[in-house]
Amino acid sequence: MVEKLTKNFFLYLSKSKVLNKGAKRWGLRLGASQVVAGVSIESVIKSVKELNDKGLVCTVDHLGEFVFKKEEAVQATTVCVDTLEAISEAGVKCNLSVKLTQLGLDIDKRLCLDNMNRILDTARRTNNFVRIDMEDYTHYHQTLEMLKELRRKYNNVGTVIQAYLYSAKDDLEKLKGIPLRLVKGAYKESAKVAFQDKKKIDANYMKIIKQHLLTGSYTAIATHDHRIIEQVKEFCHQNNIPRNQFEFQMLYGFRKELQEEIARQGYTMRVYVPFGKDWYGYFMRRLAERPQNVSFALKGFLSR
Ligand code: FDA
Repeated sequence: MVEKLTKNFFLYLSKSKVLNKGAKRWGLRLGASQVVAGVSIESVIKSVKELNDKGLVCTVDHLGEFVFKKEEAVQATTVCVDTLEAISEAGVKCNLSVKLTQLGLDIDKRLCLDNMNRILDTARRTNNFVRIDMEDYTHYHQTLEMLKELRRKYNNVGTVIQAYLYSAKDDLEKLKGIPLRLVKGAYKESAKVAFQDKKKIDANYMKIIKQHLLTGSYTAIATHDHRIIEQVKEFCHQNNIPRNQFEFQMLYGFRKELQEEIARQGYTMRVYVPFGKDWYGYFMRRLAERPQNVSFALKGFLSR
């Protein structure tokens, strides 16, 4: 009950445009630096190098929310392009994650598509891969449509499917062969479209992981849940699914020891490394997921 209230409270805060705007001016505060790798491309590349040295591969994400102006979307696209160039120049093992709303999805679909083309052309030239993060349900179908359109031209792009959605299984069926990241789901969605019960979400999560793996498609299992991770390892072992057909993913700053242990066991372990001034919404969603994460905020607040 308390957990649910805390979750809803932080998800509510994550949507505050006023706090989001303020946070951009504050710099990384409230302990956000433990889960966000600085505000510049240089700082994120430095963190990626450190993670690569520990046997972890990465995906970086330039944080950005509430983009409603064309210039902001174009500017965000330029940062993505520059980040791909920086990854290539540094020779680090790292790909890129993007959010379509940051690239103009709420402004004009054509603009968003043009921006994705710019990013994917750079990714293709630098031999890299781009993952479209999945946002809240209001953007779900548009994201899948955009992916379909982009896949006609590029094979170095994939997206994310959220296990809390009732439609996950059917949607996955249409995405056979496409590299997908599978997650439980981070947003507050209505009972009309999504499971609300954690046990049901976990059960559906395992179901869709098995489903995508069995089609031979490359699957990224993005979770901090050690029980799920163990079940996936066991399932892959029993079904002769090769280790180069899947990877585990976790967020920067979370379960660092487990991340390294998984890499030591010979699995691909990818760390999602966010960076940028627009850290507020991302940080609030992480606090919502796990009340224990609030200790990050408290420690950060006390050490200001
Ligand atoms: P969950 O939070 O359900 O925890 C399950 C159990 O794992 C806990 O009870 C605890 O035992 C253990 N555990 C979890 N965290 C722990 C910790 N920090 N320390 C110790 N034990 C811990 N969502 C989305 O909607 N769209 C997206 O594009 C993405 N992208 C994405 C990328 C990556 C790399 C990750 C890891 C996650 C996402 N997500 C996401 C977020 C995802 O949907 C989900 O909200 C979070 O991962 C939280 O769920 P978990 O599966 O990690 O476990």
